[in-house]
Amino acid sequence: MNRFVVVSAAVFLLISLAYLPLLNQLYWSTLTSLIPPVRVVADLVVTNGTIFTSDKSLPFADSMAIRNGRILKVGSFTTLKDFVGDGTVEVNLEEKVVVPGLIDSHVHLISGGLQMAQVGLRGVSQKEEFCKMVKDAVQNAKEGSWILGGGWNNDFWGGELPSASWIDEISPHNPVWLIRMDGHMALANSLTLKIAGVTSFTEDPVGGTIMRLPSGEPTGLLIDAAMELVTSFVKEVSVDERREALVRASKYALTRGVTTVVDVGRYYPGTTDELSWIDFEDVYLWADSTKKMMIRTCLFFPITTWSRLSDLKLQKGHVLSEWLYLGGVKAFIDGSLGSNSALFYEEYIDTPNNHGLEVMDPEILSNLTMAADKSGLQVAIHAIGDKANDMILDMYESVAAANGERDRRFRIEHAQHLATGSSARFGRHHIVASVQPDHLLDDADTAPKKLGFDRAEKESYLFHSLLNGNALVAFGSDWPVADINPLHSIRTAVKRVPPKWDHAWIPSECISFTDALTAHTISAAQAAFLDDHLGSLSPGKLADFVILSTNSWDEFSKDGSASVLATYVGGKQVHP
Ligand SMILES: *[C@@H]1O[C@H](CO)[C@@H](O)[C@H](O)[C@H]1NC(C)=O
Ligand SMILES: *[C@@H]1O[C@H](CO)[C@@H](O)[C@H](O)[C@H]1NC(C)=O
Repeated sequence: MNRFVVVSAAVFLLISLAYLPLLNQLYWSTLTSLIPPVRVVADLVVTNGTIFTSDKSLPFADSMAIRNGRILKVGSFTTLKDFVGDGTVEVNLEEKVVVPGLIDSHVHLISGGLQMAQVGLRGVSQKEEFCKMVKDAVQNAKEGSWILGGGWNNDFWGGELPSASWIDEISPHNPVWLIRMDGHMALANSLTLKIAGVTSFTEDPVGGTIMRLPSGEPTGLLIDAAMELVTSFVKEVSVDERREALVRASKYALTRGVTTVVDVGRYYPGTTDELSWIDFEDVYLWADSTKKMMIRTCLFFPITTWSRLSDLKLQKGHVLSEWLYLGGVKAFIDGSLGSNSALFYEEYIDTPNNHGLEVMDPEILSNLTMAADKSGLQVAIHAIGDKANDMILDMYESVAAANGERDRRFRIEHAQHLATGSSARFGRHHIVASVQPDHLLDDADTAPKKLGFDRAEKESYLFHSLLNGNALVAFGSDWPVADINPLHSIRTAVKRVPPKWDHAWIPSECISFTDALTAHTISAAQAAFLDDHLGSLSPGKLADFVILSTNSWDEFSKDGSASVLATYVGGKQVHP
């Protein structure tokens, strides 16, 4: 009652004063002189830096004040020295370059963490080395336990595909399952094939291929959906192992300046769609509730489970905590270039009559997309080949037309090979290109062999064309397919010089340094609806930033060479 009277009186006073400008002024000056100014004291002030903000309203600054894990103000030190008070920690950056916490738009975080503890075959360039690493793993394993690993790329040793015969003698008593770096092909030894019951009589499943000898005998290589024949037999990874994998992966990401990731879940098509939800409940909710989250994570779930996600978002919203964000749904339309399963209009020149695979029925995918979009979810679809990309662009356009205009930020994951004119469709229809620059380093040598020189040159990794067409371009690594390393990925997008080359692959598609950095910061945030919270060093946003080893922006912006000195999340140094 008392409060009501006071409020009514105040409202009355305000309204009457509004008609009396002179008195009004008097009133306000009296009022403000009565209330002492509330002094906001920062927890942390970083000064004397070369701070790149990714915020167009103030691209560079030298200082930043932080309180409660968020940015109070960015600017010159004189404009924010009033925030320095009792207990404020001041860090003199000695002119070091600072960038916003880097965002990786496409990772398989738990798979990456698990793979760190398995046989890591990334970068292996000889058959002998490949076999030796498997041999070492077998020697350290209990008889009968699974030898799991991945990251191999046969292009590094001249292209010959591995077969069970490489490793059968090395591992007679341990089943082996080694996934190719792109996740679309895996090698089983004969024991694994036996356990899974894969023989010369097993038919190729829809959307997959069992590689065979002329006799019909499986070689041990299983492609796309055929991998499912084995995955259900592979040793279950325990909850503890997956939790450890998340922690291991997050720590590793922080060493690379990554403070936010979009986790697209399943590493390859074929694992059960349930897995993402099991990981969500067992691993992510556990980590969030026990304060074990170290990087901000936005989760995507299999499109077949869209209604479950839609219900959960209705109940909980988009932001579960400062660490965990519910994203949208993810699907696949084709395979990969390396496994000759990406879908193209024309055949692969190294496997005539093969145009690649549709790994999902396009009509089912279209119906699922329609339903998910109608419920307000963001949709992200993996498309690598030129035909696959056009199919998804067509589908997105018709779904948008059917469901009406809204800010939906449809995403195409990879958008790797685009037919003439298709790059312009992304910007025109507000479709996000979620691309991985470092993959071009692997494909520069092989794409011309698979597609022919002209096709490869015209279609591959068209970052400049996409930006020119006003597309929102978000960068990622696809870790563990490629290493998680945004500074490297930025350098790749700017230079496009593959290992052992002395010139750029498709130089006309090189992009500017600022565009590349933007694609790993604010654009990546926009691509996952996270830009209200992070992605730039702007007042009110989470104080996630990276201090780099260089103090010259001019040098740094030439080619992005620098290393991560320290990573801060929520205003706290978390690495080293
Ligand atoms: C800023 O850092 C530079 C480089 O270490 C140093 O020379 C300079 O004295 C510093 N300025 C202030 C105001 O601390
Ligand atoms: C897709 O949706 C259409 C229209 O609702 C329906 O007629 C069709 O049977 C559906 N197709 C599949 C494969 O579910």
